[in-house]
Amino acid sequence: MTMRAGPDGYVMTKPDDATEKSRLDLQHYIWLLTLGGNLHLTPLPENLHKILDIGTGTGVWAAEMARAWPNTQIIATDLVLPQSMSTLPNLTFQKHDADSPWPFEEGCFDFIHGRMLASGIHDWPGLLEKTYRFLVPGGLLELLDVSHPFRAKLQSADNAETSPFIRFGHLAQRSWENNGLDYYATAKHSERMKQLGFVGITKRTFQWPLGDWPESQQDKKIGKLTLENFSSFIATAGVAILTRDGFMDEDEAKAAVSAAEQDLQHNHNQKGFYLTMVMHTASRARM
Ligand SMILES: C[S@@+](CC[C@H](N)C(=O)[O-])C[C@H]1O[C@@H](n2cnc3c(N)ncnc32)[C@H](O)[C@@H]1O
Repeated sequence: MTMRAGPDGYVMTKPDDATEKSRLDLQHYIWLLTLGGNLHLTPLPENLHKILDIGTGTGVWAAEMARAWPNTQIIATDLVLPQSMSTLPNLTFQKHDADSPWPFEEGCFDFIHGRMLASGIHDWPGLLEKTYRFLVPGGLLELLDVSHPFRAKLQSADNAETSPFIRFGHLAQRSWENNGLDYYATAKHSERMKQLGFVGITKRTFQWPLGDWPESQQDKKIGKLTLENFSSFIATAGVAILTRDGFMDEDEAKAAVSAAEQDLQHNHNQKGFYLTMVMHTASRARM
């Protein structure tokens, strides 16, 4: 069954909230670090007419793209419009649920970008089909997301029984599934893209450590920022995720979130917590 997504059905983040805005801006910076300072890894041709950013959040990516591509029209959609919208002549924000029919002309986008949408998309096959249909022939797609579950390097801590943080991930999975969300959707992207006729499909994974336990300076930097970002995420959205649609009662959820926060705060380095991020790129066949 495909459930309707909507402002009330999306508990994970609210891009018009000040704390969430700074969290999403920090997350954008972590992505920049991960991608070597680039806004995308898909090589783009010089003459791009239209770009779509699905679930734009604060619009930070869309605004930076609009500045980098002043002759390209950027359309940024979200369930909730950002509170302060950049006023660049080539950037338009549009309130829209990506799970519902798209209000655009088919075959009109040269590049479609969607980042960190997993928790808000109820119909991934439908979304991928729309990206194909609304791209120009030869048009390019880039999707970036968390690939679940959360993990620990320390083997004995890499399970819900010994780690409250890993347990939180398991509970979030069950709550999301209860709400019609596919926790493992990103693992199915490549095959679904292939079935739709996408060509040049690539999949890259990146590790986002939580804390400064890695060896390299670059990973330490990403790890410190990801710990800050993810701690804020759990504090803001943790209880809402677990109580969604009555999955857990409030007290149970608060206890699980508080234990996860403590575990993350005190044991991140010893247990080596990390997130796996995944990027898919592909293009619509030229025909
Ligand atoms: C984690 S934020 C990521 C924001 C932005 N893509 C970024 O990477 O900075 C997820 C965003 O997707 C939006 N969203 C979730 N489900 C959506 C849907 N079905 N249609 C449109 N936007 C959606 C949320 O409102 C939120 O702003």
